[in-house]
Amino acid sequence: MVFDSPKAVVEALTGADYLPDERIAQVVFLAERLDKPVLVEGPAGVGKTELAKAVATITGRPLIRLQCYEGLDDAKALYEWNYKKQLLRIQSDVDHDWDSISHDIFSEEFLLARPLLEAIRSPEPVVLLIDEVDRIEVETEALLLEILSDFQVSIPELGTMHATTQPMVFLTSNNTRELSEALKRRCLFLHIDYPDANREKEILSARVPGLSDHLAKQVAQVARSIRGLDLKKAPSVSETIDWARTLLALSVEDVDEEVLGDTLHVLLKYQTDIEKAAKEFTSSTQA
Ligand SMILES: Nc1ncnc2c1ncn2[C@@H]1O[C@H](COP(=O)(O)OP(=O)(O)OP(=O)(O)O)[C@@H](O)[C@H]1O
Ligand SMILES: [Mg+2]
Repeated sequence: MVFDSPKAVVEALTGADYLPDERIAQVVFLAERLDKPVLVEGPAGVGKTELAKAVATITGRPLIRLQCYEGLDDAKALYEWNYKKQLLRIQSDVDHDWDSISHDIFSEEFLLARPLLEAIRSPEPVVLLIDEVDRIEVETEALLLEILSDFQVSIPELGTMHATTQPMVFLTSNNTRELSEALKRRCLFLHIDYPDANREKEILSARVPGLSDHLAKQVAQVARSIRGLDLKKAPSVSETIDWARTLLALSVEDVDEEVLGDTLHVLLKYQTDIEKAAKEFTSSTQA
């Protein structure tokens, strides 16, 4: 599916229950037009991973996900040889014709494709999500560069495999470390921040069935003011969603001081933050 404007992207994403702001929609639009990967960066729980999933939904493409972690290597990201199968092939060869065996066992039949190669080889266009790329070591980033700039993978025994269809690539980062210039240069950059109260209200309405408009608005506003405090960890969108669900489960109709005090632990995960928010809320209502 091709979008003819960023506005069309907004409509499609909204239809898939992902509420984008204008910048998000514009970058998704450009990613498709320019065939460029997108590097999505921002705090935890603001919808980075979810964006790639929503784009897969609206484009009807399968989602292939590479979850990054410290120690990820090319055998887990790109491909590895199926040693067991290779061994069986060697054992079953009665003629010991080594030339023919080695030719055989380094063919595609003996290759185990990992997410990056899988995305390149897919006969239908996919969305490739390289999630939490900042968790891999900077040296390991090199293994992504060929895919990101040329949409190809080189396998010494087989040669270069080119993508038959153009994948849409999303990389996400929580910014735990600086990414290399080489990687950044290949991508469109998208920073996602906490939504404004209006968009968060819409997100809540889309994600929490049964939530009243009034409560959605209150939750979004309280979340916004709590984020304004100097906290160890500000509440993310996923936490405001959890909080809205909690209020719904407790049949709360209005967020007052008591409700807030009783449920702040759903929104905040550090005792010092909970105490700070409780204090702030009480003093501001008394003022
Ligand atoms: N714009 C949005 N529209 C709809 N839902 C959203 C939006 N942003 C966030 N959410 C909700 O917040 C949840 C968390 O989003 P997601 O997992 O994508 O966060 P993240 O940015 O990838 O966080 P982390 O850095 O912790 O991986 C999603 O499951 C979704 O329900
Ligand atoms: Mg994520």
